[in-house]
Amino acid sequence: MEIHYYGHATCEVIVGEHHIWIDPFLSDNPLLKDRPVDIASGRVDAIVLTHGHSDHTGDALLMAKTHNAPLIATFELAQHFAQQGANVHPMNLGGGYTFPFGRIRLVPAFHSSSLADQNGQPIYLGMPAGVVLTTETGTLYHAGDTALFTDMKLIGELYRPDVALLPIGDNFTMGPEEALIAATWIQAPYVIPIHYNTFPVIEQDATRFIEALKDKGLTGVPLKVGESFRLPASH
Ligand code: NI
Ligand code: MN
Repeated sequence: MEIHYYGHATCEVIVGEHHIWIDPFLSDNPLLKDRPVDIASGRVDAIVLTHGHSDHTGDALLMAKTHNAPLIATFELAQHFAQQGANVHPMNLGGGYTFPFGRIRLVPAFHSSSLADQNGQPIYLGMPAGVVLTTETGTLYHAGDTALFTDMKLIGELYRPDVALLPIGDNFTMGPEEALIAATWIQAPYVIPIHYNTFPVIEQDATRFIEALKDKGLTGVPLKVGESFRLPASH
């Protein structure tokens, strides 16, 4: 399993020949201003969305249509994009489904989930989610946008993720202090901080977070935009 990071909460997970995108936020992502991503290029086998906010769903519809790839999301969010012509796979919290590349489970996240309509009014789109992707080459947990909650312990116990992607930006999600607690509860050997330094309000020092993880016996992987992490084969 290889994880390619595009900044914010956007990543491309490569499992064998399959490319699974989580929360594609590319065209309007300030971190990609100098390195635009061509949505039409590359391979897209599936797109997984944690919730409706535009910094997570930005390019999802275009990407899904361009590649005829399924959008995997909670029921209301999937329906919203199905109405706009996307091929979708609706799921809901607690449920799993085995796709050709591995098993996806949607797990709880404490946040909100909406998109603005043409008048700027929020359309509420069901519950937000975290994503657990279990494959032959390892298990990934992408927490989505979330507060700290004690059932993260359960996610750790049940699914034993090898790598956890945790928001550290604060303001809209957990900050670094809460994310550190989350990491100790989840016990994934590798932790990738996400959802920070995209906007001034979520600026954080990832280096300090990585140091704090080290004190807890966990390995932080501070991916810069455009960098990849390959999960060691032993995991
Ligand atoms: Ni959000
Ligand atoms: Mn967000």
